[in-house]
Amino acid sequence: MNETHFVNRRSKLLTMMEEGVAIITSAPTQSRSNDTEYPYRQNSDFYYLCGFNEDNSVLVLIKTPNASKTILFVEAHNAEHALWNGARLGVEGARERFSVDETHDIAQYDGMIKEILREHINLYVDLYNDSARVVEAKAAAQSLHSTRGVKRHIRSIRDVTYLIRTLRLIKSPEEIETIKKAIAITAKAHHSAMQMCRAGMREYQLQAHMNYVFLNNGAMSEAYGAIVAGGNNANTLHYVDNRDELREGDLVLIDAACEWELYASDITRTFPINGKFSDPQQEVYNAVLDVQLRVIEAIRVGVKRDWLQTYSEELLCDALIKLGVLNGERSVLIETKEHKKYAPHGIGHWMGLDVHDPCPYVDEEGESLAFMAGMVMTIEPGLYFRADDESVPQAFRGIGIRIEDNILVTEVGYENLSAMIAKRVEEIEGMCKTQI
Ligand code: GLY
Ligand code: MN
Ligand code: MN
Repeated sequence: MNETHFVNRRSKLLTMMEEGVAIITSAPTQSRSNDTEYPYRQNSDFYYLCGFNEDNSVLVLIKTPNASKTILFVEAHNAEHALWNGARLGVEGARERFSVDETHDIAQYDGMIKEILREHINLYVDLYNDSARVVEAKAAAQSLHSTRGVKRHIRSIRDVTYLIRTLRLIKSPEEIETIKKAIAITAKAHHSAMQMCRAGMREYQLQAHMNYVFLNNGAMSEAYGAIVAGGNNANTLHYVDNRDELREGDLVLIDAACEWELYASDITRTFPINGKFSDPQQEVYNAVLDVQLRVIEAIRVGVKRDWLQTYSEELLCDALIKLGVLNGERSVLIETKEHKKYAPHGIGHWMGLDVHDPCPYVDEEGESLAFMAGMVMTIEPGLYFRADDESVPQAFRGIGIRIEDNILVTEVGYENLSAMIAKRVEEIEGMCKTQI
């Protein structure tokens, strides 16, 4: 993503702000155990606004009636850190690399923020994540508040994330390209999992193979913890143990995807471990697929997300009646939420810099948002029949199926960004046949 994108995003955020100061902090490093750390992952809101990928940095946006200013505080170059962990960009490097008005050593943040805050009445921060730098800023605001003779002081502290995440809702063409890159690698990984799967393997072996494809194609990370669930394990929605043996005659549900330049993909495919669907497996699979295709087909500008959720539940309920799992009137079954036992999760979520992009789902009045071009949402219906559930016809017990794609809303309808990943029964069986 080039620098003009970050400049434009900041200027949009400044337009949304009233007079005041916004403080957006980098993610902290996360300790794993003793002196080991998890791989560093930047705060998506911070990255969205400046593209800087180091920890211990702070972005400050200042808006006055006539002007605005952007300051990036970064860690200064440090020979010891460079020796052990690699060189930081440093204050000068950041000034050359980024189109911010000023860069300063993070060591000056405390003193400078106090000077900045004494000129303003509104402070914008992440209200729900008290990072150390925000705590320091609030403490500075508090001490100014009780100091005589200060010209102005902070009178309202507001949530900056709501503004940023409203911007994040609509993806630019460059963001779409980045998401497509993540999906292209994820597609390779799913296809090769279908090709290499054999009964007797362990779930983690498929996961390991997919991770190999991610890394071997330059993706830095999974977008979330992979679910590789053979047979009845698919009925545990957040199954992440991935240690069981894959058994002849079962399906395997894989919900796994990589991120590219911090942008996520989120793909689920369910396929037969031996490469051939049994009749009952195919019956349930096609029921879920039919729902997925119809829900995707309904996506267009102006359709409300809540309506899509309701529509998907109606379709899933119809599918359950057709499969003989539920009996009765659809409207009554929906009213009593009978279908939720077998289809418990929502139809999808926003996706972008986060796999579950934390963008608003409702407008300021609490009304469900209507789709606009540039939004990206997953569509992921599923039906889950536990092996021990005697309310389900015997032939379907132990089958859990989810099919998940990543859909872009366009001016003329939608684009399925993951349409290249085998999904119809013949496509999946064909892919499984070309074993590697
Ligand atoms: N992979 C998480 C989800 O599908 O929402
Ligand atoms: Mn998802
Ligand atoms: Mn998923």
